[in-house]
Amino acid sequence: MVYEGYHPSDTLLTQNYEYFVIHFHPERARASIDIKVNAVGLREAIESRMSLRDYSEQPLTMEELSWLLWCTQGVKEFSTFTRAGLSTRVTKRNVPSGGARHPFETYILVNKVVGLRPGLYRYLALKHKLVEVDLEVRVEDKKVEACLPQHFVKMSAVIFIWTVVVYRETWRYGERGYRSMYIESGHICQNLYLSAEAIKGGVCAIGAFRDENINSLIGIDGKEQFVIYVATVGKRK
Ligand SMILES: Cc1cc2nc3c(=O)[nH]c(=O)nc-3n(C[C@H](O)[C@H](O)[C@H](O)COP(=O)(O)O)c2cc1C
Repeated sequence: MVYEGYHPSDTLLTQNYEYFVIHFHPERARASIDIKVNAVGLREAIESRMSLRDYSEQPLTMEELSWLLWCTQGVKEFSTFTRAGLSTRVTKRNVPSGGARHPFETYILVNKVVGLRPGLYRYLALKHKLVEVDLEVRVEDKKVEACLPQHFVKMSAVIFIWTVVVYRETWRYGERGYRSMYIESGHICQNLYLSAEAIKGGVCAIGAFRDENINSLIGIDGKEQFVIYVATVGKRK
């Protein structure tokens, strides 16, 4: 099915709108955020970016983690998106998203971050906060290995796990929305690669994850919400 202007599922908008706006807190959106990291030139960041799998023992600081989350999914402002006479409230972030749908949720599996207990957390983009999901999960657990079998995963400081909430995309774009989800997860991960350069860190994108295991680890059904992309982050040696 091809999206052509006004999508039939837009008629569902009024009954489903609350689902999307319920967590909107315009007063909490920030055009930028006061996170102190090194200034790295764009050219330097692009040219030094590489997939890093050999990390130092050094943990990330909370500020560094905050920076990475901000760069990948942080909310800069609230805006109105109008198409075919239909207006919706949307978020503007540090990455682009078709129709400003931003259908993603960011989970992080913390291994080495100063001041943060290891475990599984979710990023609340609208508040720029983390919420604990499961602090019993550890990167060295067999069940994590079953999701992410590559050995270097255990060495990383944080594993970013991006999920997509399918309906946030398909209510507007139908099946074609799947194309955007996969494209946009690439934008997010690329921002992680580049923002890690400012904290003397490195990233490795991961496509080699086992869908059923990782969806179950996160506690999502793999249909209405599924893990789309994963990346490890750690300090350079
Ligand atoms: C979609 C995608 C999936 C990837 N999956 C893995 C992976 O599972 N394991 C891994 O070690 N590297 C993975 N990579 C990293 C690539 O191997 C890496 O980008 C490639 O070798 C080029 O190296 P560079 O990123 O240092 O330029 C992935 C990269 C992309 C874009």
